[in-house]
Amino acid sequence: MTARVALLLGDGVGPEVVAEARKAVDATGVEVEWDELPWGSAYWHEHGRMMPEDALDVVRGFDAVLMGAIGDPSVPDPVSLWGLVLKLRQELDLWANLRPARLLDGVPCPLAGRGPADVDMLFLRENTEGEYSGTGGRAHAGLPHEVALETSVFTRAGVERVVRHAFSLAEARRGVLTSATKSNASRYGYVFWDEVVEEVAAEHPDVRVERVLVDALCTRMVRDPGSLDVVVASNLFGDILTDLAAALQGGLGMAASANTAPGSGVPGLFEPVHGSAPDIAGKGIANPCGAVWSAALMLEHVGEAEAGVRVLAALEAVCREGPRTRDIGGSATTVEVGDAIAAAIA
Ligand code: NAI
Ligand code: MG
Repeated sequence: MTARVALLLGDGVGPEVVAEARKAVDATGVEVEWDELPWGSAYWHEHGRMMPEDALDVVRGFDAVLMGAIGDPSVPDPVSLWGLVLKLRQELDLWANLRPARLLDGVPCPLAGRGPADVDMLFLRENTEGEYSGTGGRAHAGLPHEVALETSVFTRAGVERVVRHAFSLAEARRGVLTSATKSNASRYGYVFWDEVVEEVAAEHPDVRVERVLVDALCTRMVRDPGSLDVVVASNLFGDILTDLAAALQGGLGMAASANTAPGSGVPGLFEPVHGSAPDIAGKGIANPCGAVWSAALMLEHVGEAEAGVRVLAALEAVCREGPRTRDIGGSATTVEVGDAIAAAIA
């Protein structure tokens, strides 16, 4: 069966890395019908919005979306994020943000003396509510008592589904689940989150669960990353922790992510963790590995798990043997790395 995949090239290095991800998918021989969606910052300049009014319906017509990154210095970040990335995640209810943080052989790790055996974590970030619910308000603009409220929203349905999914991921891995909250200082949302974790834990005696305060978890990720397996966290904490995790796996250029609604049939959104990297855009030096890894996750999502495994194996081989881009210690271009991955797949 042919998979229908929308390419959302995005801004900055987005189109550069997505081209290599597409090349990798095509090298597997899986039949894909690609469609480019011209949404992003250029679209905003032309139409006054980041994507068309019927964008959600358009996306629902595909099996998956492969995305670069959105964000351009000429567009305010809240406009581009809320007008596209966060809007798609929320309105398609893509509640599971999966981010593998594994250090591949050949990629330099910033932690002295650590290697691939020490860094193999899987982060599951709640992706639709929490601190990024978009709820709040501002009043008394410009006055001395001006006020801004940003409200976190934790629903039972929202927390339970992500926690349940985290347990099933832990069961399929090493059986350890770490839940990151801050329920000592914050008194409601994270306390509730902890309670839900306790409830669901009772159904999974085979998984060892630990609750760790998010600040302590940062220390642990640096000092003892090998003790972590699956980590589940709220939207904000997951966002921050996974940038740290990306650094441990060799930098933002390596990190991949999947935004999905498991069990729903809604198309997933697959994107490297990094942004549009305006500082290196157009130079042909962006690392395509995070985008290629995201494409491997996408193949699994569209029922081509075996092809996804082949893409990942090729990515690992190229990281081990080169060529590599300069952010991970090489001197190759984006296209050279993409070509090498495609050749390794074929
Ligand atoms: P960034 O991830 O674009 O860049 C941070 C640093 O990492 C830069 O030094 C950049 O050169 C480097 N980097 C990023 N991707 C790389 C790659 N593939 N290969 C080699 N080096 C890479 O984050 P920044 O600068 O904070 O944000 C830039 C824009 O991207 C902003 O407009 C921001 O809002 C947006 N953004 C969008 C995201 C998305 O679409 N999901 C996620 C993060 C940021
Ligand atoms: Mg982030």
